[in-house]
Amino acid sequence: MDHITAFQEYEQSALEAIVAAADAAALENVRIEFLGKKKGRLKDLQAVVGKVSAEERPVVGKAFNEVKMRVSTAFDARKKEVERPKTALSSLDITLPGTPVKLGKRHPLTQTMEDFKDIIGRFGFTVADGPEIEDEYHNFNALNIPDDHPARDPLDNFYLSAASYATGGLPDNPRLLRSQTSTVQIRMMEKEKPPIRIVSLGRVYRPDTIDATHSCMFHQMEGLMVGDDVTMAQLKTVLQLFATTYLGQDVQIRFRPSFFPFTEPSVEVDMGWGDDWLEIGGAGMIDPNVLKAVGYNPDEVSGFAFGLGIERFCMRRHQITDIRRFYENDVRFLSQF
Ligand code: DAH
Repeated sequence: MDHITAFQEYEQSALEAIVAAADAAALENVRIEFLGKKKGRLKDLQAVVGKVSAEERPVVGKAFNEVKMRVSTAFDARKKEVERPKTALSSLDITLPGTPVKLGKRHPLTQTMEDFKDIIGRFGFTVADGPEIEDEYHNFNALNIPDDHPARDPLDNFYLSAASYATGGLPDNPRLLRSQTSTVQIRMMEKEKPPIRIVSLGRVYRPDTIDATHSCMFHQMEGLMVGDDVTMAQLKTVLQLFATTYLGQDVQIRFRPSFFPFTEPSVEVDMGWGDDWLEIGGAGMIDPNVLKAVGYNPDEVSGFAFGLGIERFCMRRHQITDIRRFYENDVRFLSQF
C-alpha cells in the first residue's frame, strides 16, 4: 500500500470514529487506537513513512504531520463537546439576577374594538364579520347607491384592477376593497331572517389624502337591528347608552338630518360634551329599497343601522391628535395605552 492511500484510510477512519464516540470513555478508546504513542494506527502509519526513499521523505513526512494535526484537532473539538454538560438545567446559573420579561400590549384600536364589542354586547348585539375584498353589488347596489353616485368614483375607491381578473375584460360585478362596513348589513340580511341585532367591526379603505385626521385605511363599527317594530327612538337610545358607557355620563348624542342612500330618514351622529361636538358617524332607518334587495318585505319589517368611526372614539378617549400614529407601529407611542 502506498503512503497516500494509507494516509487517506487512516484519516477517514479516525474522523469517523471521533464523530461516532458518544462519550468521554468511547473517545478515549478512539484516542488510544488512532493517536496512541506506543502502538496503534499512528505507529503503523509511521512505519509506512519509514519505508519511502530518502528524497521523498521530507514531503511524505510533512504530509504525515498534517494528517496527524487534522485528526488531533478533530479529537480536541469532540472532547470539548462530550465534556460539555448535556442538559440546559445543569448549565443554568440560578444565582444570576433575573431579567424581567417585557409583556406586549394590544394595539389601542384593538383595545377600543374589544371595549366596543363588550359594551354593545350588553345591549344584545352579537358580532358579525364580512369580507374586506367586496364586490360592487354588496358595497353599492344592494345599499341603494345608484350607478352614477359619486361614492362609486374609481378615484374614490380601491377597485381591483381589471388585469387581475383571469377571465379578462371588466367583470359585471368588479371587486374592490370595501369602502364601508355597511356591506355587512347586506351579507347578514341575505343569510338571516329578522329579528337581527348585530355589529360588525373592521377595516375600510378609501384613497383619501393622508393627514392628521384622514387615512386610506381606517376602522368602522357598523350596527344593524331589524325586527317587526324597530324605531328611531331605539336607535338613539342605543347610541346614547353606548357613548355614555364608553366615555362617561356627561356625553351627549345629537342627530342632524342628513342623507345616505341606504337609510331613510338619515342622520349624522354627533357626540358632545358641553358646547364641544364631534361627528362620529352616520345612522338612520333602513331604506325600503335595501330591505327589498335582501328579500325582506318593507311593509312587515323595519330596522335601523349606524356606522361609527372607531379611530375617532379612540382618539377622543386618549387625547390622540394625529390618526397616523395608529399605523406607524412606534412602540414608544403604542406602549402608552
Ligand atoms: N357607511 C357610511 C359611511 O361610511 C356610514 C353610515 C351611515 C352607516 C348611515 C350606516 C348608516 O349604517 O345607516 O360613511
